Amino acid sequence: MAFTIAIDGPAAAGKGTIGRALAAHFGFAHLDTGLLYRATGRRMLCGLDPVTAAQSLRPEDLNADDLRTPEVSQAASRVAAIPEVRQALLDFQRAFARRAGGAVLDGRDIGTVICPEAEVKLYVTASDVERARRRHLELTGKGHTVTLDEVAQDLRDRDARDSARATAPLKPARDAVQLDTSEMSIEEATERAVAIVTAAQG
Ligand code: C5P
Repeated sequence: MAFTIAIDGPAAAGKGTIGRALAAHFGFAHLDTGLLYRATGRRMLCGLDPVTAAQSLRPEDLNADDLRTPEVSQAASRVAAIPEVRQALLDFQRAFARRAGGAVLDGRDIGTVICPEAEVKLYVTASDVERARRRHLELTGKGHTVTLDEVAQDLRDRDARDSARATAPLKPARDAVQLDTSEMSIEEATERAVAIVTAAQG
């Protein structure tokens, strides 16, 4: 039976962490849809036309180890504003969302465009300062050399671009449950999300 959890929100708000935890808890498959745009953006940086890059994305493109750098993040957000790129990635995401056995997808337009019929919609946010702090910690922990200011600027630029674009802009679905994780530990945020999903399962 299909059961979809759609998680949207701005960059580095904790969507991925919560998505992975929910998938593990409920035994659902998880898709970080940002990776599709990051892999497309990375291929564009290598010289490919972005629409061609999205149309010919290969599984191994999603495993590149530099997908989280600010340079690739910016490229992802630029290609994500191109309607043909979004169109090329649509069917894969929709099929994933309705697969048997349950699915968790996190991104920007999951509850609004990819799967408006999702059984649970979460809109995860956190303060700008907290998001920058978390992403900076994640990147430096992986050995990337980047300053807190650069990370904060990357998040500001992307949120502005992602919210302002004409196609599938970042915004909460009307029926999304909002979860502000600024003051929450990972355990608290996960517990809260599990409770929301459990309540929806009835
Ligand atoms: O989620 P993440 O920060 O990895 O996403 C990278 C970029 O991909 C975002 O800034 C956004 O521009 C784009 N994106 C999108 N729609 C999604 C997921 C990501 O436009 N569903």
